[in-house]
Amino acid sequence: MPHSRLLRGAVLTFDADPGEAPTPQADSLRYWEDGAVWVEDGRIRAVDDFSALAAHLPEKIEFVDYRGKLIMPGFIDSHVHYSQLDIIASFGRELLDWLNDYTFPAECRFAERAHAADVAERFLDEMLRGGTTTAQVFCTSHPGSVDSIFSAAQQRRLRLLAGKVLMDRHAPEALTDTATGGIRDSERLIADWHGKDRLAYSLTPRFAPTSSREQLDAVGGVLRNDPSLYLQSHLSENRGELAWVAELFPECRDYLAVYERYGLVGPRSTYAHGIHLSEDEHTRLADAGANIAFSPTSNLFLGSGLFDRLATRNAGVITSLASDVGAGTGLC
Ligand code: GUN
Ligand code: ZN
Repeated sequence: MPHSRLLRGAVLTFDADPGEAPTPQADSLRYWEDGAVWVEDGRIRAVDDFSALAAHLPEKIEFVDYRGKLIMPGFIDSHVHYSQLDIIASFGRELLDWLNDYTFPAECRFAERAHAADVAERFLDEMLRGGTTTAQVFCTSHPGSVDSIFSAAQQRRLRLLAGKVLMDRHAPEALTDTATGGIRDSERLIADWHGKDRLAYSLTPRFAPTSSREQLDAVGGVLRNDPSLYLQSHLSENRGELAWVAELFPECRDYLAVYERYGLVGPRSTYAHGIHLSEDEHTRLADAGANIAFSPTSNLFLGSGLFDRLATRNAGVITSLASDVGAGTGLC
């Protein structure tokens, strides 16, 4: 006999993008004032008016009364660093100083497995408290940091995408890997976690300045061999970063071209920020089907700039929403 539960309350769910206020597409959402969600062995069996469902329920069912509250699908955070949970609101100037002063020292602590396991649990508690049930997560360059978050998510039966940060230059020695070592670690993690239960692996070159050409090329190779893998990185967040990328990769016509050159821009790629992109970069992202993780609180906290949501949308680029903690100010 399956275990059945009925959650009763106002229910709101979306079938399509509702578009821009003040004229949302009415047929993009469904709403029941006195609705109910029928859950059988942890899976949704039906959603409807309470009175419509009431006639069909089994004799043995657990009722949960959420009247006066709103029941919705879980949110998705498409870009977040779980290792930065404890540095939220660290007073920073801009991106590159913030990374050196707060982020890298905090990430060094993840060499210790017990610390990673502790933060992983606190991170998932806090994420769920805000209604987020799925996230794409940056770990640190320590493979153990990836084991910790996947293992914690697996125990809670969560959907989670995560990956080991790849970074073979321009970072403290304690955090850097090598082109071959980073790939070897990623391959071990892919074998252990990708496709297990609701987990998936996302290859994670931090951003162009912290990877050598050899490392980016090797990531592209792994991705070509297994199109079921995801990829996450950062793109065009801060003016100083842009100038640095231009200096490091003079052979590339713009920032996006660095990732394109190594085969890292596709329908399973998520790039955080994308604030200072040209029209041409928008068009190329749209053609590739890649998505930009719009990280509003992070963009404001680090003074990175305002994301041009309308221009991005008009160019046909897919966008998702992200907290980007710890530059973002909370997981909600
Ligand atoms: N660019 C490279 N690394 C990071 C990071 O950890 N946070 C943000 N916001 N941008 C980055
Ligand atoms: Zn980020």
